[in-house]
Parts: sequence; structure tokens; C-alpha cells
Amino acid sequence: MLQLALPFPAPLPHLPLATANRQAPCSTTVTIFRLFRHRSLETAEHVVTMGVLVEKLARLIGLQPRVAARMGLAAQLHDVGKMGIPDTILNKPGRLTPAEYDTMKHHTLLGREILAHSGQPLLDCAAIIAHQHHERWDGLGYPRRLSGEDIHLYGRVATICDVFDALSRDRVYRKAWLPDQVFAHLEHQREKAFDPLLLDVFLDHFDAFMDLRQGTNLAAPLVCKEAAS
Ligand SMILES: [Fe+2]
Ligand SMILES: [Fe+2]
Repeated sequence: MLQLALPFPAPLPHLPLATANRQAPCSTTVTIFRLFRHRSLETAEHVVTMGVLVEKLARLIGLQPRVAARMGLAAQLHDVGKMGIPDTILNKPGRLTPAEYDTMKHHTLLGREILAHSGQPLLDCAAIIAHQHHERWDGLGYPRRLSGEDIHLYGRVATICDVFDALSRDRVYRKAWLPDQVFAHLEHQREKAFDPLLLDVFLDHFDAFMDLRQGTNLAAPLVCKEAAS
């Protein structure tokens, strides 16, 4: 098993903590997020946005608001396993080598290991998302090469939002894609990377998701009490 890459660099005081004013059930989430924020600003922004996008898609497909809120909060932890990935790989300003990519893939297993076994619904949901958000509908994803509905609904929702936000965002190794390019890529990956029915819902509301990610307020409170129960 990979070791967590401690200690973390100095805090980033200008970035507000999205979950700062939540109450007890979210204390674990807050702690993990705080650690994450210290590691990579880019990743911290991405995970906050993920929470908003996942909750929105979950509501659009008809899940109860309470469940959607839990998924949104849990999705903020989807990449928590990256805390165990060395900085030289996590923040590399260029393409990863095959060996580095294999190491990066471990973040799904590390995330599950960090989050599983708590017995709390919120963290159980987060463990599933952390484990499965890189699985693909066609079975070519990782870490388990699950396919179709063998991938948990939580994972299938998260992977669409993850790719959408990642492509829409400047990364250390490339500039953000334009909205039309992102839309075309998602559409092309229908029944390849993504659950086709979920993707159809997402693309039907593409502009709303784009507005949502551009307007994400990192300080905005989410509904913690609902989500954690
Ligand atoms: Fe990931
Ligand atoms: Fe991600």
C-alpha cells in the first residue's frame, strides 16, 4: 500500500473552506477536505465543484433531495486518495509516463481505503464514489474494469461530472477546453465512458451545468445535516 505523502505544504489561506460552518456529522469530511486543500489548490477547487455538479445531476435523475445532497457532499471526497500520490506526479507539468499513470491510478484504491469501514452513510457513499469514479461503461476503466450497471449509480453519476469539470478547467499541463469541445467529447463518449441515459440528462442541461461550475462559490454552505444522515 502507498504511504500518505505527509507532511503537507503550508496552508492556502485565501481559499475559503466550503464546509467550514457545518455541524458535527460533517467533521470527518471537513478534516479531510482541509488536508486536501493544503495539498493542491487546483484539486481543491475541482472537488468543491464536483460536489455541486453531482448533487445537481442526482436531483435531475430523480433521486430524493436528501440522497442527492449526500452524494454531493460525498463527491467532494472522490479524489481524496490523491493525498497519497507523490507531488512529483500529482503536480507534474506534463504528461505522465506509463509508470506514473499506474501510480496515479492507485488514488481510487487509496480513497476507498481511507473512506470505507466507517459505517456512516455519508462516508460509505464517498467510498463508493472514490473507488468507482474512473470506471467506464464499456469496462475499460479502472481499478476493477467494471462495466455497465455493475458500476454503482454513485460512480456513474460522478464520472460524468468529473470528466466535465476536469476538461473545463486549466490543468498544470494544458489549458481548459472550450464548452463546445467539452460537449462534443462527452457526446462522443456516450456508451463508451458514460452511462448513456445519465449522459443524456446531463447534456440536456449542459448550459446549466456550465453556469453552475463557473458560478461555484467555494464558500457556499451545503446541506450537511440532510446529507450525512
Ligand atoms: Fe480521480
Ligand atoms: Fe476528479
